[in-house]
Amino acid sequence: MAEIFKNLINGEWKNSSGSETFENRNPAKWNEDLIGIFPSSNKDDVNEAVSAAKAAFDKWRLVPAPKRGDILKVVGDKMSERKDEIAFEMTREMGKVFAETKGDVQEGIDTAYYAASEGRRLFGLNAPSELQNKMNLSFRVPIGVGGFITPWNFPMAIPTWKMFPALVCGNTCVFKPAELTPKTAATLIEIIESSIKEVLGKDYIPGVVNIVHGKGSIVGEAIISHNDIDLISFTGSTKVGKRINEVAGGDLKRVSLELGGKNAQIVMNDADLELALEAVLWGAFGTTGQRCTATSRLILHKDIHDEFLKMLSEKAKTLKLGYGNDPDNQIGPCISESQRDSVHSYVKIGLEEDKATLLCGGEFATEDELADGWFYKPTIFTDVKPGMRIEQEEIFGPVLSVIKCNDLEDAINILNDTKYGLSSSIFTKNINDAFKAIRDIKAGITYVNGATIGAEAHMPFGGVKQTGNGHREGGWTVYDFYTEWKAVYIDYSGKLQRAQIDNY
Ligand code: UN1
Repeated sequence: MAEIFKNLINGEWKNSSGSETFENRNPAKWNEDLIGIFPSSNKDDVNEAVSAAKAAFDKWRLVPAPKRGDILKVVGDKMSERKDEIAFEMTREMGKVFAETKGDVQEGIDTAYYAASEGRRLFGLNAPSELQNKMNLSFRVPIGVGGFITPWNFPMAIPTWKMFPALVCGNTCVFKPAELTPKTAATLIEIIESSIKEVLGKDYIPGVVNIVHGKGSIVGEAIISHNDIDLISFTGSTKVGKRINEVAGGDLKRVSLELGGKNAQIVMNDADLELALEAVLWGAFGTTGQRCTATSRLILHKDIHDEFLKMLSEKAKTLKLGYGNDPDNQIGPCISESQRDSVHSYVKIGLEEDKATLLCGGEFATEDELADGWFYKPTIFTDVKPGMRIEQEEIFGPVLSVIKCNDLEDAINILNDTKYGLSSSIFTKNINDAFKAIRDIKAGITYVNGATIGAEAHMPFGGVKQTGNGHREGGWTVYDFYTEWKAVYIDYSGKLQRAQIDNY
């Protein structure tokens, strides 16, 4: 019997007020492994969760920030204790291999401990007053109720990037996780809720975190358009991000968007080719290419182009596909049938419309036990020219496009010539070229002699152009998103002092 899951609203695990449900299945063993049944919630459930979060905010904002930090410390400890179990279930739920799901949980743990310590900082700023006997201070205050809408590719890390800093700053949460990864989300909420209970004891506040499972078109829409939601943080496609910006931004909610990418790795003619090869395989095919930071373009200097391609095709063919909880396997399935179909439709575009050359892959992998999962062979296109659709559009699957370049300037121009700007990488031993690339690449993240994936939790994460709307997650930068600045003037002169007038 599959496990039945519920929403958490106002401290209570409860069914949706409607009767609809959806299934959560293992993408590597689709027919064999039904993981759970989740409520497909409705607008009334969202309304109830928002009311609970709104009521909780009035109390939660008054809990001292270091105490809120203590809760995040306990959250991090619990996640560490359960790291392997959570990772195993995450692999079962979304397919990437166990080493990667462990990394995903670790990113959440790192974020928890960073947030825990931030509870004792959340620094404000003081500035001198232009008048005598007057003091100026400014400090951070929480904003209110946050709506959090997250994707399936990092089911633990991404919700933690958003909710942990939001909570430490004193905001409350209504969380709608991706329908494809509700179980990891439920575990995360269970951990946060039990930690709040443990640390606050008799002062426990229900409704600080609420989870409402269901569809984007119903639960997501209800969240982004709700009057009592003060901020929205979303990670996902540029198309959905634009819609959220229209609705929530139109209502003057604070909106943070982390959207698509079309990331490239440049390999110059002086690079360590073995290292660059390892990196591109990891960047392009890790997480089955389903990262917004995935390497989907490889820009090769003409002098090493043919040699590198030979190395690449030999290695790509040896990658072992299979269920990610089996340690022999290196690449898991696509998350769903429709995702695999979408990847395949891009392969067709590459062949028929773009007329690129298929070096390897380009088809479903269905041998033996792979037949019950959404596996797709690691795919490499060569003879790709700037401007082709497979070179411009985000595919979100194991497909790499290789482009030949003449020199550094040409490489950077090709890299920059997309509507996105998330991650980027250059392999070179020439220090001058590395610094020029750091300066001229238009992306939120640039790696020198490293793959395009693998951002660390304490660094700013996000991109330029249509990758987002200018906010960053991770590190210290995210704390600006989750707080308002309050300016305070304290006059101890005992008289009315008019700024800009009495002193000039
Ligand atoms: C994402 O793909 O949305 O830098 C997040 C990385 C990971 C996070 C990826 N730490 O690849």
